[in-house]
Amino acid sequence: MTTTPDASLLEHARALDGNDPLRAHLDAFSEAPGVDAYLDGNSLGRPLRDMPEKLAAFVRDDWGTRLIRSWDEQWMALPMELGDRIGHVALGAAAGQTVVADSTSVLIYKLMRAAAAADPARTELVIEAGNFPTDRFLAEGVAAETGMTLRWIEPDPVHGVSVADVEAVLSERTALVSLSHVDYRSGALADMPGITAAAHGVGALMMWDLCHSAGVIPMQLDEWGVDMAVGCTYKYLNGGPGSPAFAYLRRGLQGVLRQPIQGWWSAADIFAMGPEYVPSGDIRQLLSGTPPVISMLAMQGMLDLIEQSTIAGVRAKSQSLTDLAVRAYDEVLAPLGVRLLSPRDAEQRGGHVTIGHPDFREVTRRLWSDGIIPDFRFPDGIRLGLSPLSTSHVETVTGVLAVRDALESGDL
Ligand SMILES: Cc1ncc(COP(=O)(O)O)c(C=O)c1O
Repeated sequence: MTTTPDASLLEHARALDGNDPLRAHLDAFSEAPGVDAYLDGNSLGRPLRDMPEKLAAFVRDDWGTRLIRSWDEQWMALPMELGDRIGHVALGAAAGQTVVADSTSVLIYKLMRAAAAADPARTELVIEAGNFPTDRFLAEGVAAETGMTLRWIEPDPVHGVSVADVEAVLSERTALVSLSHVDYRSGALADMPGITAAAHGVGALMMWDLCHSAGVIPMQLDEWGVDMAVGCTYKYLNGGPGSPAFAYLRRGLQGVLRQPIQGWWSAADIFAMGPEYVPSGDIRQLLSGTPPVISMLAMQGMLDLIEQSTIAGVRAKSQSLTDLAVRAYDEVLAPLGVRLLSPRDAEQRGGHVTIGHPDFREVTRRLWSDGIIPDFRFPDGIRLGLSPLSTSHVETVTGVLAVRDALESGDL
C-alpha cells in the first residue's frame, strides 16, 4: 500500500501531537464551532474557556459590589502589577520596569518622543523600511515634530534586519534605533542582543517592538541592556480585541526620560491635584490617564498558562509547529509554485510562517468561509500564525492542505 503525502503528513502531525508536553493546554481555549484550523493567533489570540465566568464575576463582584472601592483595593496598581507579570513571564525583565497601558501605537509614540528629546546633539532616528506601518508613521510624525532626520534600513525581505544593516547607518548622531523583534511579514527574528549592543556602541538608545514576539519568543531585556520596548497583548498574550499594550523602560532611564502625554496618572502624586505637573520618577510616568481595567482581564489567564508551560517550552512547541508548516509547504505547496517568504531555519524565525502566491487573496476568502482561518497580507502573502498553546500540529497540516486544495480547485 502506498502512503499519500497527505496521509503521511497527518500521521506525522498526530505523532507530534501525541508527544507534545503542552497538549493538555489545547483544551483551555474556547471552542469555535465550524472552525477546523485557526491559524491567525498571531493577529488575535483565542479566548480562554473560562472567560465568560471571569467577566461575569468581574461585573458582579469587583465592579458591581465593590464599586469605586475597587480602585483602591486593586485597580490603581493593576497597570504596574500586570506589567511586572508580563516582564517576569515573557520579557526577562525585573519588576518596576514594565506597565500596561494605551495601545502599542500610543506607547511607541511616547517612548520615541522621549528618546528624541533625550540628547539635543543627536538628530537621527534609525528605522526600517519594511517595519509595521504604525512604527514607520510614528517615526515620521516624531521627525516632523522635532526636526530629526530618519535613517532608513532596507533589509532582506525574508531574513530581516541584520547587525551589519544597522551598523551601516549608525553614527554619533543616532538618537534611537527602533526595530521589530519579529518581522510582521516574514516572521524573521532579529538578533536583539547583537543589534542592541551595536546601537549602544555609538551611544544611541534602542527600542524594540515586541508585538510578534511577546509570549512566544524568550528574551532577556534586562540582561541584554535593552532601553525600551513596546508590545501588544492581543496576539500571543490573548488579551482580546483592543486589549492595552505594555511598555518596558529600563530602570536607569526612569526619571531621566520624559514622555510627552503627561496626564494625571503619570504625576508623582496622582491625587495631589496640584497647580503644576510633577512627574513620577518611576515606571508610572509612562501612564497618562485612567487604564482600561476590563480589557486587562483576559491576558491574566494566558500569562498563567505561559508561566506553567515556561516561555522556553512555548518556544520549543512554536518551533515544532513552524518546522512542520515548512515541511508541509515543501511537500504540497512548493510544487504548485508557492513561495516560502520566511527563513527556513527555525532559530531565525518567530511564531509564524509566510507563503506567497498571486491567488492568495482569493484563496484566503475561500478558506475563511470554509472554517480555515489563516491571515492574508498584501500583496500576495498568507501568514500561518501558529500560537503554540492553542494550536495543534494536526491543525497546522489541515490548514496547509486546505491551501493546497483551494489552489488546485481551479475555480478561484
Ligand atoms: C509589529 C506591530 N506593531 C504595532 C502594531 C499595532 O499596534 P496597535 O496595537 O497600536 O494597533 C501591530 C499590529 O498588528 C504590529 O504587528
